[in-house]
Amino acid sequence: MQLSDKKAMLSFSDGGESIELPVYKGTVGPDVIDIRKLYGQTGMFTYDPGFLATASCESSITYIDGDKGELLYRGYPIDQLAESCDFLDVCYLLLNGELPNKEQKADFDGQITYHTMVHEQLHTFLRGFRRDAHPMAVLTGLVGALSAFYHDSTDITNPEHRHISAIRLIAKMPTLVAMAYKYSLGQPSIYPRNDLTYTGNFLRMMFATPCEEYEVNDVVERALDRIFILHADHEQNASTSTVRLCGSSGTSPFAAIAAGVACLWGPAHGGANEAALQMLEELQANGGVAKVGEFMNKVKDKSSGVRLMGFGHRVYKNYDPRARLMQETCKEVLEALGLQNDPLFKLAMELERIALEDPYFVERKLYPNVDFYSGIVQRAIGIPTSLFTAIFALARTVGWIAQWNEMLSDSDYKIGRPRQLYTGSPSRDVPANR
Ligand code: SDX
Repeated sequence: MQLSDKKAMLSFSDGGESIELPVYKGTVGPDVIDIRKLYGQTGMFTYDPGFLATASCESSITYIDGDKGELLYRGYPIDQLAESCDFLDVCYLLLNGELPNKEQKADFDGQITYHTMVHEQLHTFLRGFRRDAHPMAVLTGLVGALSAFYHDSTDITNPEHRHISAIRLIAKMPTLVAMAYKYSLGQPSIYPRNDLTYTGNFLRMMFATPCEEYEVNDVVERALDRIFILHADHEQNASTSTVRLCGSSGTSPFAAIAAGVACLWGPAHGGANEAALQMLEELQANGGVAKVGEFMNKVKDKSSGVRLMGFGHRVYKNYDPRARLMQETCKEVLEALGLQNDPLFKLAMELERIALEDPYFVERKLYPNVDFYSGIVQRAIGIPTSLFTAIFALARTVGWIAQWNEMLSDSDYKIGRPRQLYTGSPSRDVPANR
């Protein structure tokens, strides 16, 4: 980061001593005011619950311009990556900073392929869950359990150990997600195969059985691969910040990623794709397009507690570029599968049309986000609603581990330890006569 000529001056209305704070510039986007010396100089903290105006770190991985609706992975626009790359190209890019050449791609794909199997004892962990457990509960457990298996790479200060942990996590997430799905069906797990692509392998582990092979459908494979690309990373969102804060204590990368999985599960975050589809299905069952107006009135009535799931975003105050690409993917897949008249897709398009014209949404800059259409296309592919967020976690693992690695590669990093504004009781004595 580059020191700006501009300084921030902080003065106090009571005539207290003013202080000067450095301002730093990034490559693009908002400058930052460096407040690291603020407490030492003033005895005061800044106050920013929800971190609406706080840069928690310096990063060169992903850039978002919320007003323009722009998303760059290592400088490349998301629409160009979705169009010209596959998911493992994007994994290599996020981890290494550049797109792979042919040799690098072949080597990286090979590394991932040869780490897709999980230790056989992971299946034993699975047996402990109820069959109807939510897949995200199972995935949180299985990913955390991985931290009990890799004693050959526990030194997180060693770049090689960090690299093999990244490879193992990216490679094994599809296997673990498919295991959770098969377990919920009462079917045996399907082992990965080394002759399939990353996404084709996942589809086969999801839908093949010992009695019947699964032929990977090219349109479905390409659509799912694009869904993985669109979900791969997203700056310092809640789950990525969780991984960074958890990883900053020096814990196992598998434990830190398990914390990210747990955070992503929430309906305000990655759980919104499941909630958005449930919202559409309920609306469809209760009158569909004819009832959209009534539903939107509920959404606008705060006391109802109803939100338009898949809409709104902390950063995007314009259309989420991923939502637009997801809508295109939706159209392609539905047409390819002969489902172009899918009532849920039509209902979603009508909800979007109304929302984008309604002053309530326009004033609050509420647009569809990545979760609004992703459920429809996953449902069309045959993925059950309860697995949508696990698919999100599968894809976001590379972003989490790239951000974790970036943090640990900086020898000056510190354990994260926010402070607070205390409004509880002042010191008092325990009553003698209790
Ligand atoms: C993801 O951070 C990331 O990058 C996340 C993510 C990623 O890739 O990692 O992009 C993935 O999590 C996408 C977001 C998925 N969540 C949802 O779709 C759930 C529904 N959306 C929201 O609950 C909400 O929009 C958030 C949580 C996404 C953002 O919330 P903010 O920034 O804290 O905004 P807010 O809740 O303060 O809302 C501002 C106003 C409020 O109204 P007023 O108080 O100003 O009158 O907008 C309203 C809210 O009531 N509002 C909504 C709404 N979202 C916000 N009203 C109806 N429906 C909605 N969806």
